[in-house]
Amino acid sequence: MTTDSTSPLLVVDDLCVSTVDAPDTPIVRNVSFSMDAGDRVAIVGESGSGKSLTCFSILGLLDPGLRVSGGDIRWDGVSMVRMSAQKRRRVLRTDLSIVYQEPLTALNPLMPISRQIREGGTSVSQRDVLDILHEVGIRDPERVARAIPHELSGGMRQRAMIAMAMVKSPRLLIADEPTTALDVTIEYQVLRMMFDLTHRRGTALLFVTHDLGVVARLAQRVIVMYRGQVVEEGSTATVLRAPQHEYTRRLLAASSLATARTLVLEDEEGR
Ligand SMILES: Nc1ncnc2c1ncn2[C@@H]1O[C@H](COP(=O)(O)OP(=O)(O)OP(=O)(O)O)[C@@H](O)[C@H]1O
Ligand SMILES: [Mg+2]
Repeated sequence: MTTDSTSPLLVVDDLCVSTVDAPDTPIVRNVSFSMDAGDRVAIVGESGSGKSLTCFSILGLLDPGLRVSGGDIRWDGVSMVRMSAQKRRRVLRTDLSIVYQEPLTALNPLMPISRQIREGGTSVSQRDVLDILHEVGIRDPERVARAIPHELSGGMRQRAMIAMAMVKSPRLLIADEPTTALDVTIEYQVLRMMFDLTHRRGTALLFVTHDLGVVARLAQRVIVMYRGQVVEEGSTATVLRAPQHEYTRRLLAASSLATARTLVLEDEEGR
């Protein structure tokens, strides 16, 4: 297999995900989109619409009871669905990272942060650990490096998890509602940091959010999912200004509070 340098970084092509028991009635149906290097794409949609399953499919992290039952996922032009397990592990080790909604489910509760960050990449030195902790906005990296997750606040844990995901400088970071467990001011600060960091490093970012205010400010393109399908996709400005699908219109109508909240916070920060 050769890598095609003209192909997009990631192509999700007619992806279907089903339970092993019911392969003919997919939960995620015919999802297609693509991302180039450095792109910033948001997925929005109601609970249960298939946002997480789409993300997990890309990473090959579906539960054992689920599988990709149709379509393809291509990384650098090469099918990840048909890739050997060894090659896939190599791609995951170097190119792709994920940040989850709740860091305590992803972090080992008993292992010091420094060791967990070192395990996020290959040949990561203690210096790299302190540097990346500093980059994710932690003011006392030495203390945090020594700490175990339970000794940190929710916001600090989320920063530590982003450090773990970013230490290898992946080409794509997938963030599945990474900040919904945090209070709103902290949430916004952590999101802003994550966007700045990925932007500086040219890392593409695929992120799930429920907050259209965040989409409006931080995503170039948005994918709207509804009941397992993509019902709308386009540039953020186009989709938010002139939503085509009934579900997107409803989502926008319901989100005026969230949007206002983000804009207010940004205003405060700018002052
Ligand atoms: N292991 C599983 N086995 C069977 N069905 C599943 C499994 N995991 C998820 N589902 C179902 O697949 C659908 C999509 O789930 P998914 O987690 O992708 O939704 P989501 O859009 O991320 O929702 P949320 O916003 O609540 O996180 C849901 O109806 C869910 O119940
Ligand atoms: Mg989800």
